[in-house]
Amino acid sequence: MDTIEAIHTRRSIRKVKEVEPKKETILKLLESARWAPNHFNTEPWRFTVLTGEGRRKLGDAYGKINQEKVKDSDDSVKEAAYEKGMNKAFRAPVIIVVSVEPSDKGKVKEVEEICAAACAVQNILLSAHDLGLGAMWRTGDPTYTEIMKQSFGTSENGTVLGFSVHWISG
Ligand SMILES: Cc1cc2nc3c(=O)[nH]c(=O)nc-3n(C[C@H](O)[C@H](O)[C@H](O)COP(=O)(O)O)c2cc1C
Repeated sequence: MDTIEAIHTRRSIRKVKEVEPKKETILKLLESARWAPNHFNTEPWRFTVLTGEGRRKLGDAYGKINQEKVKDSDDSVKEAAYEKGMNKAFRAPVIIVVSVEPSDKGKVKEVEEICAAACAVQNILLSAHDLGLGAMWRTGDPTYTEIMKQSFGTSENGTVLGFSVHWISG
């Protein structure tokens, strides 16, 4: 597949198939990500790959965020809210959590760091497409919460940018 064809034919794939890609395949996605353009060579992206039970880390964050919204309710309501959040993390067999950690070097602009990390995500999505994986970029309000930041060790200046989720298409 050539580059222009890949760009034109990539689509967000929402249909889940619980088949985990091989580790080498996931590593290829991360390798593509780190070739993204980045000003002053800051490489401001951070990736956390979640598979299997490891997805509970994201589920726990979603669960806690959900519980915040019902904090004055009965325990059963809080438990249900937590479970609902936990289940969200199990919609795909692989989740790559992408964060940006802007460099504090003199000339670096924060907006350019976010741009670079977004380029890294697009590299992941295009590479997934080339390798026959379904993928999409997911965000939503929980992405930008303190709970999410804390869950993935994001610094005060950093931001979780979303979740690139993957599965074998078809
Ligand atoms: C920053 C960002 C966040 C996104 N978040 C979501 C999301 O939370 N849920 C979703 O269904 N799609 C999400 N998308 C995917 C877009 O909805 C999708 O790219 C758009 O509909 C165009 O479809 P395509 O990717 O198939 O071309 C996101 C895309 C971007 C760039």
